[in-house]
Amino acid sequence: MVQVAEAPPAAARKPFSAEDARSSVLPPINLQRWIEENRHLFKPPVSNRYLYDGRDFFVMVIVGPNARNDFHLVNSEEYFYQLKGDIKVRIREGDHIVDHLVREGETFFVPANVAHAPVRPPDTIGVVVEKRRPAGEREHVIFYCDKCEALVEDIDFDCGDIVQHFSQAMLDFWSDDARRTCKQCGHKVAKPEPVKPF
Ligand SMILES: [Fe+2]
Repeated sequence: MVQVAEAPPAAARKPFSAEDARSSVLPPINLQRWIEENRHLFKPPVSNRYLYDGRDFFVMVIVGPNARNDFHLVNSEEYFYQLKGDIKVRIREGDHIVDHLVREGETFFVPANVAHAPVRPPDTIGVVVEKRRPAGEREHVIFYCDKCEALVEDIDFDCGDIVQHFSQAMLDFWSDDARRTCKQCGHKVAKPEPVKPF
């Protein structure tokens, strides 16, 4: 006989851990309900939470508005699925930045080693799937000048936990006047305000 596993009521459920994802089969998650229950935990500038934190890949839910002006570059692919509202994903192509509008219901794929920056207005919800990075792999948080598009800083680090480390790397950069000044035109990259509706 086929056994049907029933999900425990929301109140009885333990917070999801990396260990759960790596070792056991969990009941299905109602994504909308999970987002509502975890809403208060999404913190700027990135406003992301792990839905699954697996061995091979991890899945994040990301709500808007975010408040970031960095580009992310890593030697692996990223998959975006936009659940609610429209976002913009900025892609560095050669010396320029190209904006891709990703509308509600659309999916988007970023190849490895492509610098990209998601711009998420308020009341948007998206899912992003990323590959687990092997130990010792480097990844980059890159800032370009808002004015002349020159490279301002490329922060290269071993990133164990992107939820914690990314936010800290950005906060450190924005608060350092020497680092955030464009060497080409003198413009200062500012800590951005949360994204406004498009
Ligand atoms: Fe500049």
